[in-house]
Amino acid sequence: MKHEKVEKNIGLMAILIVIAISFGGLAEITPLIFQKETTQPIEGLRPYSALELEGRDIYIREGCSVCHSQMIRPFRSETERYGHYSVAGEHVWEHPFLWGSKRTGPDLARVGQRYSDDWHRAHLIDPRSVVPESNMPGFPWLEKNQLDGQLTAKKMEVFNMLTKGSWHLDEQGNEIPLYSAQDIAAASDAVKGKTEMDALIAYLQSLGHALK
Ligand code: HEC
Repeated sequence: MKHEKVEKNIGLMAILIVIAISFGGLAEITPLIFQKETTQPIEGLRPYSALELEGRDIYIREGCSVCHSQMIRPFRSETERYGHYSVAGEHVWEHPFLWGSKRTGPDLARVGQRYSDDWHRAHLIDPRSVVPESNMPGFPWLEKNQLDGQLTAKKMEVFNMLTKGSWHLDEQGNEIPLYSAQDIAAASDAVKGKTEMDALIAYLQSLGHALK
């Protein structure tokens, strides 16, 4: 009658439930920490350029991820529409992740190269000019705001720091930092004279580059 005792004692039952669930969680989560597939970049993954990196910050600032996910699930209904499902190795350098959890608009994980830069520009200024039924808001100010590039180099340094341990390796097995000293030195010139719109479009065009 041990079983009856457990069933009639809610405190004991709660504790045992927590223990049972913890084991389940550990069994699922622990292997992921050690699996290379989840911690190493896939071949062909390249770091964001200075301009793309600035564009990513604008994507975050404007709240694009409130309406757009960047996570294609491995279901036929998704892969037929958006392309190859998302894999962990594409996202190992993403800080923070922009997977999102709501799709008012379509998933953007593989939107790169699907439209021209001009299409994106027209769409971001006034979505209804290219998609008449769209309920996406316009972001016309991006066209007017210039990037100052003051923090671009710093951002690259921070990304180098955050991604240590998951860099590509060269032939000798040495780690190749995301951004070299030259990349960082050239960062602010690389975004000089560009608008926030240029940066955001560059970022959008880079999405999904590693896996087509
Ligand atoms: C209020 C919700 C909302 C917000 C915020 C939003 N979008 Fe959208 N977006 C949509 C909807 C709905 C569509 C589908 C209709 C269309 O194409 O305009 C869309 C479509 C798109 C498309 C075309 C995707 C495709 O595959 O056809 C892109 C690119 C895009 N949005 C980028 C952005 C970016 C970048 C931002 C932030 C600056 C943003 N969106 C903010 C709702 C939103």
